[in-house]
Amino acid sequence: MARKKIIAGNWKMNKTPSEAVALVEELKPLVANEEVDVVFCVPAIDIVPVVEAAKGTNIQVGAENMYFEESGAYTGEISPNMLVDAGVKYVVLGHSERRDYFGETNEDVNKKVLKAFEHGITPIMCCGETLEQREQGVTMDFIRQQVKVGFQGVTADQAKTAVIAYEPIWAIGTGKTATTEQAQEVCAGIRACIAEVYDEATAEAIRIQYGGSVNAATAPELFAQADIDGGLVGGASLKADFGKIVNYK
Ligand code: 13P
Repeated sequence: MARKKIIAGNWKMNKTPSEAVALVEELKPLVANEEVDVVFCVPAIDIVPVVEAAKGTNIQVGAENMYFEESGAYTGEISPNMLVDAGVKYVVLGHSERRDYFGETNEDVNKKVLKAFEHGITPIMCCGETLEQREQGVTMDFIRQQVKVGFQGVTADQAKTAVIAYEPIWAIGTGKTATTEQAQEVCAGIRACIAEVYDEATAEAIRIQYGGSVNAATAPELFAQADIDGGLVGGASLKADFGKIVNYK
């Protein structure tokens, strides 16, 4: 069975609540494509107005992070229940920016992934190597560790519904997209890793995105690859270009 493509925007720390609503209004008609899953992952404060603005459209709303506790004295954090109650369906976990700037470890990401599943939120778990790791030839070793630890304790049935985003750090926000071959190679490697940890059926079902300077020009070739099931898009998700990416065919 063919996997449905999933094209998600990661707004990062951009757009105030009112700007967010304006962007949804602008993009709504441009992303109206039922053949792919369209997700807007937005800053926490924008979630409520974006869910409201996206009502009745094909746009699903995601968060950019989440804490792994249910509630309590964790000043500044957002719980899975809060996200579910607000209408969130997806959550980006372990983005390289969170790993780099906020010290998130594979173990933290794993706790968050488990919590997301527990609450019926689909995790978009990010992984990806630095330029140094690529040059040292350890890309796949590093990513396999991120995936294996990130998915520890996740059942095969849960993994089948998950999304993994392969985002080479050197390609994020740099305008330097990985070549189609590089992206396909690593996404295939991730799928092979899932087959090893689980089984072929799980590997066939899980969706693997590419992220890193995806734009309207590079999306068609990237998304046509056998193991690339869509994209996680940063900069280009904040403009009309995102409509072209969603309608890449
Ligand atoms: P850019 O598309 O801006 O390179 O960002 C990619 C990314 O980090 C998405 O999560």
